Amino acid sequence: MTYFLEGKRIYLREVRPSDVNERYYRWMNDPEITRFLESRFAPNAIENLRDYVAGKLGDRDNLFLAIVLKEEDRHIGNIKLGPIQWIHRLADIGLLIGEKDCWGKGYATEAIQLVSDYAFNVLNLHKVAAGCYGPNEGSARAFQKAGFVVEGVRKEQFYSNGSYVDDILLGLIRPDWNQGKRATG
Ligand SMILES: CC(C)(COP(=O)(O)OP(=O)(O)OC[C@H]1O[C@@H](n2cnc3c(N)ncnc32)[C@H](O)[C@@H]1OP(=O)(O)O)[C@@H](O)C(=O)NCCC(=O)NCCS
Repeated sequence: MTYFLEGKRIYLREVRPSDVNERYYRWMNDPEITRFLESRFAPNAIENLRDYVAGKLGDRDNLFLAIVLKEEDRHIGNIKLGPIQWIHRLADIGLLIGEKDCWGKGYATEAIQLVSDYAFNVLNLHKVAAGCYGPNEGSARAFQKAGFVVEGVRKEQFYSNGSYVDDILLGLIRPDWNQGKRATG
């Protein structure tokens, strides 16, 4: 196992073109997984997925990382830190847990915490931010468990499953992260 970032139960490493196999293809085309993602509007061909992954290798403004279970060395999803806005010292975080049997086990929360810690302590960023569809309770909850706060709601921003849904804006600034770390030891 070669880690880029190591947590308790997961590690993160770069996503490799060789990761883009049938399983990965299923993640990106399963309506249950993609229902709150902007990638859902067109089929995601395996060649396009591989090109996307290849394009992210060595991209200093977007860290695209595989979430891997340490115990089984199993790739269960991806997390992206980026685009990184170096002047504002700000970056977005987006993620996907593609293996549905791994939902609700705290892996998203752990991955968000690892990437946030890296953003603040290694990249010296000031803020990380995320957005999620209103009905995506799991996503909003995972970010909040990782220390993010809801900063705003853009009403009926997206069209989803026959109705308009809100865009929940979440953010975490470095002083709050440091304080949270002190509080939890
Ligand atoms: C949303 C997603 C990232 C959550 O990942 P996860 O690993 O299941 O999240 P966690 O286990 O860390 O969950 C954090 C909290 O949310 C809860 N949760 C998870 N899924 C939920 C759901 N569908 N509905 C309600 N709560 C949910 C968990 O129970 C946990 O709360 P708790 O500790 O109080 O019980 C994952 O379901 C996913 O990748 N979905 C498809 C892609 C996607 O929507 N990505 C996010 C785009 S913004």
